[in-house]
Amino acid sequence: MAMHADLKLVEQDEGGVDLAFRAEVLQGLSERQKAIPARWFYDMTGSELFEEITRLPEYYPSRVETRLLETHGGEIAELVGPGVVVVEFGSGSSVKTPLLLRELTCTAYVPLDISGEFLRQSSRQLAAKFPELAILPIEANFMQPVRLPGSVPDVARLGFFPGSTIGNMVPQTAIDLLRSMRDTLGDRSQILIGIDRHKDVDRLVAAYDDAQGVTARFNLNLLDRINRELEGTIPCERFRHAARWNPEWSRIEMHLEALDDLSFTVCGRAVRMRRGETIHTENSHKYTPDQARLLLQASGWTPIETWSDPADDFMLVLADATLHRSAP
Ligand code: AVJ
Repeated sequence: MAMHADLKLVEQDEGGVDLAFRAEVLQGLSERQKAIPARWFYDMTGSELFEEITRLPEYYPSRVETRLLETHGGEIAELVGPGVVVVEFGSGSSVKTPLLLRELTCTAYVPLDISGEFLRQSSRQLAAKFPELAILPIEANFMQPVRLPGSVPDVARLGFFPGSTIGNMVPQTAIDLLRSMRDTLGDRSQILIGIDRHKDVDRLVAAYDDAQGVTARFNLNLLDRINRELEGTIPCERFRHAARWNPEWSRIEMHLEALDDLSFTVCGRAVRMRRGETIHTENSHKYTPDQARLLLQASGWTPIETWSDPADDFMLVLADATLHRSAP
């Protein structure tokens, strides 16, 4: 089956500027605690740097999740059943996808990603691996409700949301997203979601501040991207990467910290920062299995199975959209 032309749901102006990127950066830099949503990390360079992160010795999530898919793929396929359409949210390089697809008999694969260039490249690679499979890539920000195009077969769907991307959202937003995924996928769907677990703070901080400085480059690339795409004048070398554990919210936070008092412009707008002031660029929430299950239940998903590695570092949860009676 041939790969379909990809669908693009991202708005740009005449000059090719991503309008949402501009709006969210300008808004975020005008707030008291400056903040930019983590999805803007993923331009081509950022997506490549993230792939490099997944191979770092300190960054255990990718390795552990891959292992979980290898170990339990058969069991997952049995619970999911044959003939589903797999919809992957934030597919990136789709490296984990083959581990799932080779176990399932599926009707089509729909990768959704915000990085169009990266999406097309990884879809081509996957098409070479699975020549029989219908692949329907969609360039979209899955934080907005996505309507699957009519070309997606109307059969049971399996949402695939690996990598603990759900951890990037505060719980309230995570629940909104899981609910909207349920709307996108329909009543006859299931979701397989990877979620990072609580652990020793030193290990968590090391995973987000690696010795080789790849995560620092990943974080700082956001400033380069702003300079490139939004006519920014940010002095990138006057910022440093910081990874901090926030115990109130059980999350790792990434920040870009100003090393001096700074002033610069973005799209012609003036921004000032004090020395030590930060731009908050990412949250990565960590959950216990109980918290993860509650998160899913609160979003209309019924967990049916949870798999963890022997060290309890990471979990995969399979949940079902079937309506359950809310009263006895
Ligand atoms: C893929 C978004 C889940 O938060 O662990 C890795 C991104 N940021 N190192 C994560 C990331 C810094 C990653 N997610």
